[in-house]
Amino acid sequence: MNKQLRYLFMAAILVCLSAFLFACGGDEEEAEADAESNDASSDEGGDFSKLVVGTDATYAPMESMDDSGEIVGIDIDIVEAIAEAVDVEVEFKNIGWEPLFPAVDSGEVDFAVSSITITDERSENYDFTDPYYVANQLILVPEDSDLSSFDELEDKRVSVQINTTGHIVVQDLLGETSPDILAAETMPLAISEMLNGNADAAVGDNSTVNEYIKNNPDAAVKEVEDDSFEKEYYGLMVKKGNTELLDLLNEGIEKIKEDGTLEEITGIELE
Ligand code: ARG
Repeated sequence: MNKQLRYLFMAAILVCLSAFLFACGGDEEEAEADAESNDASSDEGGDFSKLVVGTDATYAPMESMDDSGEIVGIDIDIVEAIAEAVDVEVEFKNIGWEPLFPAVDSGEVDFAVSSITITDERSENYDFTDPYYVANQLILVPEDSDLSSFDELEDKRVSVQINTTGHIVVQDLLGETSPDILAAETMPLAISEMLNGNADAAVGDNSTVNEYIKNNPDAAVKEVEDDSFEKEYYGLMVKKGNTELLDLLNEGIEKIKEDGTLEEITGIELE
């Protein structure tokens, strides 16, 4: 073989070799991409074997942190029962209340459970499952308060958890930008504002207000009910358009409604 031919031959081998290596690399990348799409942050049409569930674990008895830092509560039990019914795994992440909504948008979490009331406004940007829990607002006041109805709060200072339905009803009464509304980051902080005397009343979901009274028998507070509060229904919240996940969750809700598990967990009848 003359020199020129030998070079040509070697060059051909090199070309083949690099093409081969390139193909292998491609395979690896594909494998990596496959592995990624299998992880928890499954998107629309993704793999639902493990779902990341976001929450604001400051809302006992629905969702809170126990002493060992585990996220526990009625909502958590409900989601676990749903997951079991449709054979998927779930992992809970404490995101906080306000960041929870963008976390659903970005896919940081697959869906949210957080005593979230299904409202028309929220339904414009998110999809909600069928309702799994019914609640209403409740007013918490100092024991010596003579407040007897929601309307009487009109010229009072009221604390709420920011951007909750409690915040919205109080805004409807006092005005959207009223300086007399103290919008705290969490419900326990809203209750503290009332206990400190910064607010005359705190308004929040009955589940959590009742739990506060139960856990703090010595606190000088009482609750005021008002029939004018509308019933609120909680739903699981998914990214708008993620119908595949929505259908799966609804299937689970349907199952645990039918077999009595849901009522067993919540102790309340939905309809
Ligand atoms: N039900 C109310 C709402 O949807 C309050 C929910 C607050 N939940 C929580 N985990 N902080 O606005």
